[in-house]
Amino acid sequence: MRALTFQGTGKVQVDTVDDPTIEETTDVVIRVTSTAICGSDLHLYDGFIPEVRKGDVLGHEFMGEIVAIGKGVGKHKVGDRVLVPFNIACGNCDFCRVDAFSLCENTNPDHEKVEKLYGQSGGGMFGYSHLFGGYAGGQAELVRVPHADVGLLAVPESLPDEKVLFLTDIFPTGYQAVEQIGTGPGDIVAVWGAGPVGQFAVRSALMLGAERVFSLDFEKGRLALAREAGAETIDLSEQDSYASLMELTVGKLPNRCVDAVGMEAHGASVIGNVYDRVKTTLMMETDRPNALRDAIMCCRKGGAVSIPGVYAGLVDKFPIGAAFGKGLMLRGGQTNTRAYMDRLLKRIEAGEIDPSVIITHRGTLEDGPGFYESFRDKRSECVKCVMTP
Ligand SMILES: NC(=O)c1ccc[n+]([C@@H]2O[C@H](COP(=O)([O-])OP(=O)(O)OC[C@H]3O[C@@H](n4cnc5c(N)ncnc54)[C@H](O)[C@@H]3O)[C@@H](O)[C@H]2O)c1
Ligand SMILES: [Zn+2]
Ligand SMILES: [Zn+2]
Repeated sequence: MRALTFQGTGKVQVDTVDDPTIEETTDVVIRVTSTAICGSDLHLYDGFIPEVRKGDVLGHEFMGEIVAIGKGVGKHKVGDRVLVPFNIACGNCDFCRVDAFSLCENTNPDHEKVEKLYGQSGGGMFGYSHLFGGYAGGQAELVRVPHADVGLLAVPESLPDEKVLFLTDIFPTGYQAVEQIGTGPGDIVAVWGAGPVGQFAVRSALMLGAERVFSLDFEKGRLALAREAGAETIDLSEQDSYASLMELTVGKLPNRCVDAVGMEAHGASVIGNVYDRVKTTLMMETDRPNALRDAIMCCRKGGAVSIPGVYAGLVDKFPIGAAFGKGLMLRGGQTNTRAYMDRLLKRIEAGEIDPSVIITHRGTLEDGPGFYESFRDKRSECVKCVMTP
């Protein structure tokens, strides 16, 4: 089959690789009909996540049709059209039983490596390095999906791929980002990053009844997309985050802040940009927490900061004094995607939201290498790339 493979930092290519097969009775193999590139893929592409090997098949946002099925799969059959959440979960451990699927105890064969870094490991993920299981990803014609009965969700034929594909990651991610800090009526929400995750955080906050939602980024086109959804925007290439939020909220500041940027943030200030770039280059810091620092500084006393943006290692100049002094709650983590898919699918079916509005680039796997570049460099107004293998 054809698949997009990692070839080293900043390089992916389309290769012919072996077709996947059923390895466990609980597996299925799907023929991918749509697959997307995520901001999390950029962390692999840019060399921020270790243990990605030459030839690894990338991709964790995909859907398709079941073409082979293990004997132990009960809920699905060959021919079903299904969505595949990006986390691989066993469905049986203490964490899966409470819907904390991203923390599954049984799906990361590389858990010992992660335990050395974090004390404990979360579950495996598709196409996300040999720290998280080394599972082949979905930017391919075919994918092996373990624990099919736990993860897969069949989708009605009436909804095209483009409307439901993002239920495999970024829509639940934006939703969990605001839901896990209790966003609701009366809240003022600020979302750093107007990329795909930020877009869904903005839309989810409004769905949950937030009074006002601010979107902060450097990218004018992305900010315009957030405004279309109902956000007020702050263009960080021209405006200061703290001063603008103080003015716009008449000194109240937002009480729910979301870092939808993660470890590759950039910033205008010396401390937030040059300092982190130098330190990450010298391997003295692994992540650039510029948006996180800003979110903490701009959050109202007693408020909460949510971190859907991915961090992998250690950061510097973390404003723990501000977080402590203002009594903030911090939450983060990989999304428990499967926990949100059914209810968000209902919202799509009801016409409350059309996730496809963020798609700017459509193509085939052969377009993948160019799409990675455009998405990373935000060329030609790129927000989200979808490929049809
Ligand atoms: N928690 C999860 O399960 C999960 C799932 C999907 C994605 N993610 C993570 O979410 C993050 C965003 O993903 P995405 O697909 O939207 O990526 P993206 O790279 O397209 O978007 C990031 C946006 O942040 C902006 N930005 C950079 N520095 C900033 C700063 N200091 N302040 C404000 N904005 C800034 C960029 O201009 C860009 O528009 C990534 O870290 C990704 O890995 C996490
Ligand atoms: Zn993703
Ligand atoms: Zn589990």
